[in-house]
Amino acid sequence: MRYASWMDELGEGFIGEMLKAAQNPKMISFAGGLPALELFPDQALQRCFQRVFEEQGKRALQYSQTAGHPPLRQWLAQQHNRHGKPVTMEEIAVTTGSQQGLSLVAQTFLDPGDVVFVETPTYIGAIQAFISFRAQMMMVPCDEQGIIPEELEKMLKRITPKFLYLIPNYQNPTGKVMGLERRIELLRVAQVYDLLVVEDNPYGELRFEGERIPSLIELGDHVIYLGTFSKVLSPGLRVGYVVANEDIIHHLCQTKEGVDLHSNNLTQRAVFEFLKDGLLPEHILNLRTVYKERRLAMVQAIEKYIGDEVEMIIPSGGLFLWARFKNISNSYDYVQETIRQNVLYVPGQLFYSDGRVTSEVRLNYSCSTPEIIDEGIQRLARAIRK
Ligand SMILES: Cc1ncc(COP(=O)(O)O)c(C=O)c1O
Repeated sequence: MRYASWMDELGEGFIGEMLKAAQNPKMISFAGGLPALELFPDQALQRCFQRVFEEQGKRALQYSQTAGHPPLRQWLAQQHNRHGKPVTMEEIAVTTGSQQGLSLVAQTFLDPGDVVFVETPTYIGAIQAFISFRAQMMMVPCDEQGIIPEELEKMLKRITPKFLYLIPNYQNPTGKVMGLERRIELLRVAQVYDLLVVEDNPYGELRFEGERIPSLIELGDHVIYLGTFSKVLSPGLRVGYVVANEDIIHHLCQTKEGVDLHSNNLTQRAVFEFLKDGLLPEHILNLRTVYKERRLAMVQAIEKYIGDEVEMIIPSGGLFLWARFKNISNSYDYVQETIRQNVLYVPGQLFYSDGRVTSEVRLNYSCSTPEIIDEGIQRLARAIRK
């Protein structure tokens, strides 16, 4: 078959291999980014779907608007402000998960060969979305708060990217948070160079400690914000959204028409019922409590079983812990051994758009109980020492 040339850049199909390995019932997987299954509010959602059928009947089964179910857009608009002003419904488009938001942004803005600036390292799904539209990714140097504005500025003096993509809260994969001053400085640089910023925020609500920091879209102009219900409600629903100025939303919707006409009408209505009932805040509080416990269990297990051989970034929210093994050079080399030991992680290499060799790994703690985390980290310690 003559597949498109970008498919060659997708690599070895590591994710498929992981998903296959995860089928083994003895496997402990720290590889996915899955929310805890047992915490899904399935019964409340069932009632919401039921109510949609009872009260809205066949309308919920009809085609609907590309930008999304208007009451849901209205609700989302009320949750946000853009550059200090209230957001209107016209500045919101509902997407099929924020992954589709990423893909729509890529398709709407990128011509083949265009440059996109990303964090070092960054989310695999964003790398995939951008390379499928033939983008050239360039990594901006980062420190413990993410993108370093001075480094960004140095790069902008030489190169004009189409946009900068970043995850300021509990970043995937590193768990890092960008502080307020850093956000303001980054936006100042973006303004000077007329740089479009794409802010992806799936984890912001999963905060274990510290104060909420305003989003980039609240602080500056020229930002596209991607949100999602995947991590705070359920990823299977596939409901995400974009906040941006009306012109950008209009263009994204033109793209979306050609992709899927609109996101699932029935599901958008059921999610709106859940939100209207005011069920989300309490659910998020519960998620924060459970994930915080699991984060602690993972940190303690790493300290106990791996100790000085590892350096880790302890996340203050989100789903991931980023660690670097001091005594190995390439974490990819240990994947087969960890599969033999029935534990999975994602080797750091996959999160670097240049595919560099690294001894870092991403570990997910949200979908395993503290006991399972303890056992999994013991297995990981055995594998790494082999
Ligand atoms: C940073 C980031 N962006 C986007 C997504 C996609 O999420 P969704 O389920 O909303 O498509 C993920 C999922 O893991 C993610 O980590």
